[in-house]
Amino acid sequence: MIEGDVKTIIERFEGDEGFSGKAVLVTGGAGFLGSWLCDVLIELGARVYCVDNFASGRWENISHLASEENFVFIEHDVSKPLEIKEKLDFIFHFASRASPFEFEHYPLEIIDANTLGTRNMLELARKNDARFIFASTSEIYGQPDVVPTPETYWGYVNPIGIRSCYDESKRLGETITMAYHRQYGVDVRIVRIFNTYGPRMRADGVYGRVVPRFISQALNREPITVFGDGSQTRSFCYVTDLITGVLKFAVLENGNGEVVNLGNPREVSILELAHIIKKLTNSDSPIEFHPLPPDDPPRRCPDISKAQKLLNWKPKVELEEGLKKTIEWYKGEI
Ligand SMILES: NC(=O)c1ccc[n+]([C@@H]2O[C@H](COP(=O)([O-])OP(=O)(O)OC[C@H]3O[C@@H](n4cnc5c(N)ncnc54)[C@H](O)[C@@H]3O)[C@@H](O)[C@H]2O)c1
Repeated sequence: MIEGDVKTIIERFEGDEGFSGKAVLVTGGAGFLGSWLCDVLIELGARVYCVDNFASGRWENISHLASEENFVFIEHDVSKPLEIKEKLDFIFHFASRASPFEFEHYPLEIIDANTLGTRNMLELARKNDARFIFASTSEIYGQPDVVPTPETYWGYVNPIGIRSCYDESKRLGETITMAYHRQYGVDVRIVRIFNTYGPRMRADGVYGRVVPRFISQALNREPITVFGDGSQTRSFCYVTDLITGVLKFAVLENGNGEVVNLGNPREVSILELAHIIKKLTNSDSPIEFHPLPPDDPPRRCPDISKAQKLLNWKPKVELEEGLKKTIEWYKGEI
């Protein structure tokens, strides 16, 4: 299934020449999104340096690439400086733990990956005259007053809350990125990624990310744990749509110094998501309500008009279709 999806991304990307023969570094390459990037870049003929410390990634996500001549894996923590012998053309900085469970248990590692890690990778981009793409997040908007949220919204974030290690360090990551752009002229692009799901996303137990958590609970016939009354909303983007958008942005001629929201603008409530997954898995799991964690954003929905205009991109995969694929993949995992 993943091979088919990789082909779909390549067909929609239509920019093969952008990566063929290029040296590309992907940090967080053993994670969910990073491993999809590695797969597609290898198919596009790039030489891929995949950097990861397995904080939340898995060797299984990339083991099939180990025998590829153009694939190099480097076990490394991005909060430490990194040298690569070959001259790099692109750096995708995707290394960071990203689930609510991890915000609580690894706040300092998350801060380091997004601040020191971002600076180290920007330094590498500066030395190599490489293009730098930073994986930022919708979380930088905090609890926005404007929904759907455009890139021009500055954010409303609790700097001392439980999620602040993630949203504030991504905000500083964006600041460092723009500082390298302004001070050293590095070609940078910031992608604000909204909830993305698909094969290879880890379930991580009760406080893990919502799509894999609901799927594994439904398949295991365990209670589906909804926080609050489930009326809070999210917008879920299937991984092929997201990766297509990231690659289009990376090769965009006039993308230097730009920031773009990427995500699916269909907003669904968490309770609605629980019912959809229950139906698609034919599960008799009960839905259980738990207290809402602090600072849980009530709404998340991207305004994607900038991405539509700049990249001629919008998501194509319907939620039900993407969930069906993800469920099939999880069935093979459990
Ligand atoms: N998936 C989403 O919905 C989403 C949404 C917004 C932003 N993002 C961002 O996209 C990026 C990838 O997220 P993901 O969903 O693939 O998460 P993931 O946890 O699957 O992948 C993150 C990867 O980074 C690695 N990593 C973490 N800290 C590291 C360090 N210090 N040094 C080296 N490697 C390290 C992990 O081992 C893992 O392989 C992250 O930066 C995340 O903040 C993802």
